[in-house]
Amino acid sequence: MVSRFLASMGSLRLVSRAVAIICLSAQGVWAQTPKTVWDGVFSAEQAEAAKSTFDRSCTPCHGGGLTGSPGGPPLKGADFAYSFGDKTVAELVEFIRSRMPVEAPDSLTPQQATNLAAFILRGNGFPAGNAPLSADFDVQADIIIKEKK
Ligand code: HEC
Repeated sequence: MVSRFLASMGSLRLVSRAVAIICLSAQGVWAQTPKTVWDGVFSAEQAEAAKSTFDRSCTPCHGGGLTGSPGGPPLKGADFAYSFGDKTVAELVEFIRSRMPVEAPDSLTPQQATNLAAFILRGNGFPAGNAPLSADFDVQADIIIKEKK
């Protein structure tokens, strides 16, 4: 009786250890493959919704095609990759929110800055996905801007 009890405790312990190992290795896989801008992290509608704000508030300096002007740098291609490559989407959104437009920093809401970031990501050729990019800082902080897949 006692020995059967001990045996079942033993296998319970084995099972819980196995569960712990599976959880740890799942975490390991997660750590090795962080989410990137190639995973469809914004929606096409969200990027489109930011177009009118961009045209009004950003195009004068950054150009309609994100190609830059004497008033501001390009927001696509090599320049964008140089500034934001390997940074997180949170850093891009926070830069936009706290620094842009130059004449009115801190004027955009987190949601507006998020949608503008989606617009810029789309302009850089990153794919849209099914769901909009969340305005939540913690969610954005887990997404890396990778120039190449
Ligand atoms: C009056 C001109 C002006 C306006 C308007 C403006 N920007 Fe900028 N922007 C700049 C300048 C100049 C820089 C580079 C200096 C700096 O990093 O602060 C810049 C930098 C940036 C960068 C970083 C680029 C890089 O490679 O480091 C982003 C992203 C950006 N702007 C987004 C926006 C967005 C989005 C808007 C509209 C809400 C906007 N800007 C409006 C002039 C402007």
